[in-house]
Amino acid sequence: MHSFVRFFAVLIICSLAFSQTIMAKEIVIKFSHVTTEKTPKGKAAKYLQELVAQRLKGKVRIDVYPNSQLYNDKEVLKALLLGDVQMAAPSLSKFGKYTKKWGLFDLPFLFADNKAVACFTNGPKGQALLDAASTKGLKGLGYWLNGMKQLSANKPLITPSDAKGEKFRIMSSDVLEAQFKAVDANPQKMAFSEVYNALSTGVIDGQENTWSNIRTKKFFEVQTDFTESNHGVLEYVLVTSTEFWNSLPKDIQTELSAIIKEVTLKETQWALEAAQADKEYIIASGRTKIHTLTNEQAAQWASAMKPVWKQFEANVGKDNIAAVRKCSE
Ligand code: SIN
Repeated sequence: MHSFVRFFAVLIICSLAFSQTIMAKEIVIKFSHVTTEKTPKGKAAKYLQELVAQRLKGKVRIDVYPNSQLYNDKEVLKALLLGDVQMAAPSLSKFGKYTKKWGLFDLPFLFADNKAVACFTNGPKGQALLDAASTKGLKGLGYWLNGMKQLSANKPLITPSDAKGEKFRIMSSDVLEAQFKAVDANPQKMAFSEVYNALSTGVIDGQENTWSNIRTKKFFEVQTDFTESNHGVLEYVLVTSTEFWNSLPKDIQTELSAIIKEVTLKETQWALEAAQADKEYIIASGRTKIHTLTNEQAAQWASAMKPVWKQFEANVGKDNIAAVRKCSE
């Protein structure tokens, strides 16, 4: 009897120790993204890693894989759903298979500037839109800014007719495809990691991207002409899988959400700084020409591209378009 009691006491102690080990097991979040560590997104991913290391030490660890080291943006969403990675921050342009609503961010000349983006994403409509892919198992944790996109080619793009017949690389978005078709250009969907080679070998003639991506991926070295068109926005969503998020203890969810809020503020600041500094760097390099449009030329691009809004209105929501317009006034 005595040894029987002792046996049970040992069993209870062992199972308590075992469950404590399980509870104490560090949660590892693999964060995969496609830009370099010097971009606003790259810096924000590292900052998130640092804050988590400080505030959730021993409980959560983030491992960051930048520069398409692990996956490109198309693959990463599948990897998220399979549980092979737990965080990513792709451009909202890359979610067409999961929700049509985020096509809103691709509508040309919809967002007047970065302020309008912040106004919309921080407002009630923008916050509600974070949930747009939840039925497909993807949970939006926050918006991260990159900035306004610029056009480039190996010829000056001054009026919409200059784009006619040119092959432009685009992200995998039907809205962006329609935007370039509206100026009789030839859009080609392509992964970000392939753009530099495609530009330098002439597989494509031109591209659209932000000053930050144009600098860090060296696109300015393989394009003769840039147009400061500010015709659209490149905005990210920090995303995880709903299944992974729901598996986290509530206190971890709360602390992570607070950290993400803090990182998002910094990310926005870095994006605004990069938009200016990277443009200046490209100008100072003397490697390419930068064209500024007159108001009249800018209006020509806008009126050629804006019919795209009507085409996608039902997908993205008339109410959302109206909310962005209000923020753009
Ligand atoms: C990114 O900034 O994450 C990449 C955008 C692109 O594919 O052009």
